[in-house]
Amino acid sequence: MVDYKELGFVNTKEMLKKAMEGGYAVPGYNFNNMEQLQAVLIGCAETNSPVILQVSKGARKYANPTLLRYMAEGAVQMIRKDYNSNIPIALHLDHGDSFELCKAAIEMGFSSVMIDGSKLPYEENVALTKKVVDFAHPYDVTVEGELGVLAGIEEDVKSDKHHYTDPNQVEDFVKRTGVDSLAIAIGTSHGAYKFKVKPGEPFPELRFDILEEVARRLPGFPIVLHGASSVPQDLVALINKYGGNLEGAVGVPEDQLRRAARSAVCKINIDTDGRLALTAKVREILWTQPEVFDPRKYLGPGREALIELIKRKNREVLGSADKA
Ligand code: G3H
Ligand code: 13P
Ligand code: ZN
Repeated sequence: MVDYKELGFVNTKEMLKKAMEGGYAVPGYNFNNMEQLQAVLIGCAETNSPVILQVSKGARKYANPTLLRYMAEGAVQMIRKDYNSNIPIALHLDHGDSFELCKAAIEMGFSSVMIDGSKLPYEENVALTKKVVDFAHPYDVTVEGELGVLAGIEEDVKSDKHHYTDPNQVEDFVKRTGVDSLAIAIGTSHGAYKFKVKPGEPFPELRFDILEEVARRLPGFPIVLHGASSVPQDLVALINKYGGNLEGAVGVPEDQLRRAARSAVCKINIDTDGRLALTAKVREILWTQPEVFDPRKYLGPGREALIELIKRKNREVLGSADKA
């Protein structure tokens, strides 16, 4: 058993509590490789923002769980020593889909886990989430649960329809499971194709009525918003200009995310926008400088573009800058 505190991580309790009181949201940024990890932490250190470093099941498969854990530990050292920053950093398992996966992450030094039982029948979701909480809490590891299903691809399961969170279930779920935060479905979805919007048509509104009702029933309890990329159209245009094809990619308008961040939503998950920022820069360089073959010459600028995106999100969308 590795004690996450010795690795320099904190759990999410205090950071989400402060976000609730301060009317902002802590970012949950995903990483799969060194450049993304550096960019997330440097972007957050340079904006003095708390951060939740997220590792998905797919990331563990891609980069190797042991390597990811040591990379994260090394990145904390880099931020403390070379960036002279004391920002709170949580290491979080994103969309854990089994007790065994959550247990393995906790034993490796994760300070927070998500158990996503949202596709299970309600009672099974309660039982699985409670089992993870009962294992995690003695180690002071925080647990995020989920009620409601996001449209799109979640945990390798494709869902064409939103199953919005039912506010009637949230008090019972939180009370019986003991979770520390709750992800809800109010109309967002994962990936780069969140809505079908015809030119000139307004974006659909997230279901703020559901969010408000959940917040009313769980006063002061941290809510999490997944699928919160805004899919910036300048990045989509750059990718398309340099040989990509992301026709029709759209995300959640940033003003709706700002509104969510000011509410009971204390954690906002962003992965797709980071992928777009990095890919747009890499495509631009490979397209305009065909002689380049040193990965540092395209991944380095890709990392810089990601740092800039993260700084802007923290400052202008989540409101987490200067809240460390
Ligand atoms: O929720 C999904 C995250 O963006 C992680 O995506 O499963 O492709 O690593 P992934
Ligand atoms: P996006 O695909 O909108 O970035 O959502 C990421 C997410 O929810 C990670 O859990
Ligand atoms: Zn998610």
